[in-house]
Amino acid sequence: MATVLVVDDEANILKVFAARLKQRGHTVLTSLSAEEGLKRLRTDDVDVLISDYVLPGKSGMDLLRAAKSLYPKLPVIMMTAYGSIEMAVEAMKQGAYDYLTKPIDYNEMFVLVERALTERELTSPAGFEVASEHEFAGMIGSAPEMQDVFNTIRRVADSRATVLIVGESGTGKELIARALHYTSIRKSAPFIAVNCTAIPETLLENELFGHEKGSYTGAYRQDKGKFELADGGTLFLDEIAGVSLSVQAKLLRVLQERCFHRIGGSEDVHVDIRIEASTQKDLEELVRQGKFREDLYYRLNVITIKVPPLRSRKEDVPLLAKHFLKKYADENSKSITLFAPAVMRALVNYDWPGNVRELENVVERAVVLCTSDRIVPENIRQSIMCASGSDDFVRDIASGGIDFMKVERSIILRALEANSWNQSSTAKFLKISRKQLRTKMRHHGLLAEASARGDDAN
Ligand SMILES: Nc1ncnc2c1ncn2[C@@H]1O[C@H](COP(=O)(O)OP(=O)(O)OP(=O)(O)O)[C@@H](O)[C@H]1O
Ligand SMILES: [Mg+2]
Repeated sequence: MATVLVVDDEANILKVFAARLKQRGHTVLTSLSAEEGLKRLRTDDVDVLISDYVLPGKSGMDLLRAAKSLYPKLPVIMMTAYGSIEMAVEAMKQGAYDYLTKPIDYNEMFVLVERALTERELTSPAGFEVASEHEFAGMIGSAPEMQDVFNTIRRVADSRATVLIVGESGTGKELIARALHYTSIRKSAPFIAVNCTAIPETLLENELFGHEKGSYTGAYRQDKGKFELADGGTLFLDEIAGVSLSVQAKLLRVLQERCFHRIGGSEDVHVDIRIEASTQKDLEELVRQGKFREDLYYRLNVITIKVPPLRSRKEDVPLLAKHFLKKYADENSKSITLFAPAVMRALVNYDWPGNVRELENVVERAVVLCTSDRIVPENIRQSIMCASGSDDFVRDIASGGIDFMKVERSIILRALEANSWNQSSTAKFLKISRKQLRTKMRHHGLLAEASARGDDAN
């Protein structure tokens, strides 16, 4: 059975659609506008979209285009008024699967929906494929800020200009550094990464510049450093803020002259390399504090790529989550194809302090724990359910005044969703008795919803 999203500005039509599709066992989501519909598409796993052509605000065509760019394989059925065949033709050109004319013949609608579903299963079993413009060199990103990052990489990959990649932990800095190298003309030469904070200072110098035979006790032979090994290719100085002032002075010389001495040597070694560096810390601030050389900062900061934290590009969360779901389902030989809507909502609402890496870990763990064909709230509860949730309330308090009943209702609702509407485990989750929970649910009008879900007995 499938999830069908119906978008129409007439509430009555939505009601009829919902009733008819439910009879056939489908889950139905409804939206009154294109904007609202698009939001649903981002947060819920929709299998088929049915949209009216004429909507207030953005039109059905706008929604069709946006939907197709998010999910190229999503079947979209457009509804048009009787006789407006040109609109229907235009919609098909823009990638619509088919169209229905109003007044709707519901049997025709069933046939179309079912045909669209079967065809989709045949062409893409996982039901998910990232649009090509939202993927670049193994990176996923539809947010405008990420599209800017991709464009910068495309523009500067082939130059030798030094690139500084700035972003919080787990935002994808190393992935970007690799993408720059592997999309450049240097791609067949080595890409060498050095984590500048993981290596003690004395070793770092050796690691970067190498040494001559006999330069210190135990230096039995000449050893090349990373600068020489990366010749012709790219050297990535990861976490550059951790480098000591004395190594900074040496780096400055390489950046200025592309030449250096091995430790214990006096011969100039020349190299042709592209240098990339990354930092989580604000280098300008470190310069002000005297911990980072200003001249080195300017040398590094020729081209800066700022990677935004995941919480400021929430539209990427569903895309990334699905990408990781596919990756880890394949890796674990499991046929999990989707996220339950409550899970996707929780993922989108969460703040992701650990950014993309944290999301990847949460999805991987969920895949391992999952025992059905979809990720359910239990599978992510340990990771994020408890952590998320309280933030909007804090905001409400900050703005003065708080609707306590609304907050309580929202907490109960989220807890129910997190526990698949199982009342015993929800009560345990909220650390109250099942009886207390039922009293509160009755008060907030949630018992009716529970029984509609058939979960009122547990
Ligand atoms: N846009 C993206 N698309 C797909 N995967 C991503 C994306 N961004 C990050 N990742 C994945 O998230 C994880 C963390 O990325 P990466 O190591 O590049 O981050 P980082 O910024 O270098 O983190 P740190 O500062 O902690 O070293 C990796 O597994 C990477 O593949
Ligand atoms: Mg990194």
